[in-house]
Amino acid sequence: MNKKNVYMDHGATTPVRQEVLEAMLPFFSELYGNPSSLHAKGRDVRKAFEEARRVTAASLGVEPDEIYFTSGGTESNNIALRGAAKKHGSGHIITSSIEHHAVLDVCKDLEKQGFSVTYLPVDKYGLISMEEFESSIKPETFLVSIMAANNEIGTVQPISEIGAIAEKHKILFHTDAVQVVGQMPLNIKELNLDFLSLSAHKFNGPKGVGALYKRKGVKIDPLYHGGGQERKLRPGTENVPGVIGLSKALELAVGELPQKAEELAKLRNRLIEGLVRIDDVVLNGHPEKRLPGNVNVSFKYIEGESVLLSLDLHGIAASSGSACSSGSLDPSHVLSAIGLDHQTAHGSIRFSLGRGNAEEDIDYVLDIIPSIVDRLRQMSPIRKESC
Ligand SMILES: Cc1ncc(COP(=O)(O)O)c(C=O)c1O
Repeated sequence: MNKKNVYMDHGATTPVRQEVLEAMLPFFSELYGNPSSLHAKGRDVRKAFEEARRVTAASLGVEPDEIYFTSGGTESNNIALRGAAKKHGSGHIITSSIEHHAVLDVCKDLEKQGFSVTYLPVDKYGLISMEEFESSIKPETFLVSIMAANNEIGTVQPISEIGAIAEKHKILFHTDAVQVVGQMPLNIKELNLDFLSLSAHKFNGPKGVGALYKRKGVKIDPLYHGGGQERKLRPGTENVPGVIGLSKALELAVGELPQKAEELAKLRNRLIEGLVRIDDVVLNGHPEKRLPGNVNVSFKYIEGESVLLSLDLHGIAASSGSACSSGSLDPSHVLSAIGLDHQTAHGSIRFSLGRGNAEEDIDYVLDIIPSIVDRLRQMSPIRKESC
């Protein structure tokens, strides 16, 4: 079989779309003014920048002055969580045990500063329980942060139910929607959200730019001080080309929903069905409530890293667990939280599908994988027969 280049790591990052690149390019050259400058070169850029904010807000169904541009998902999460904590001074925060480190580690740091944090457990599919969430709310709870969907196993949380409970108890609600925005339809205003984080490079926009939605009227303290940009919440000269790229990518991605999500889910299901036909391959995450592009399976008795390297030799790009946490020998906190034993967790691979993937890519992967798995299992010191 001819080697093909198949990119299935869209959960880590995505290629910038041609239309996005073209929209950005003038802002590196002729449209270089500082949007805060009063002269024509500055004013022209300010106009385009505010138009990008309008398009971003319209794509999300919110108001332009509820959008704050940032450097990405990590910064948006930090501004929301730390900003709310700073404003409150003390109290209790609720989050889940499977958040991205950009939330989890912020919470751990806030604990060191005297805040108390509940890390809600998840079931074997990665879902939090609404009863456990509600019963963990204390009089001093001021914030809940639960991700819209998990980056490793793809499980989609019941965000609207969480929002209803948060509203009932008058606590702020943040969601890290980095893996959802542009992938699944999302109605922020129906979800009772106070904050939502997104990142352009996950929906075919550029890297290093994101946004925070903050509901009008919600007050938080800024983490940085400097100029007055982004209404003083995120001061510093704006990443103009990045923001132009984000707005274009978001407009295009949202415009293609929900059809694109349905197409992707079909490809995802084809891949899952093919993979679980192989002996001792198990699906991780929820069978239905999952991101349209996410496939996470464990190949028992072998190391995910070995599968990954073999796939790479065949031109297939995937990831073992979370790209952000690979490099560590510990099984990922997400796979541990859903109760996978050490060995099964180590055999996990995430294929994340996106724009540009087609049925032939799925079939290529399904043709290649059985022989890789057979060969690695033959060499494996932990193969079934020896267990
Ligand atoms: C769920 C989630 N949150 C946050 C981030 C961090 O986003 P960024 O790379 O834009 O800082 C990621 C990136 O992988 C993610 O998947």
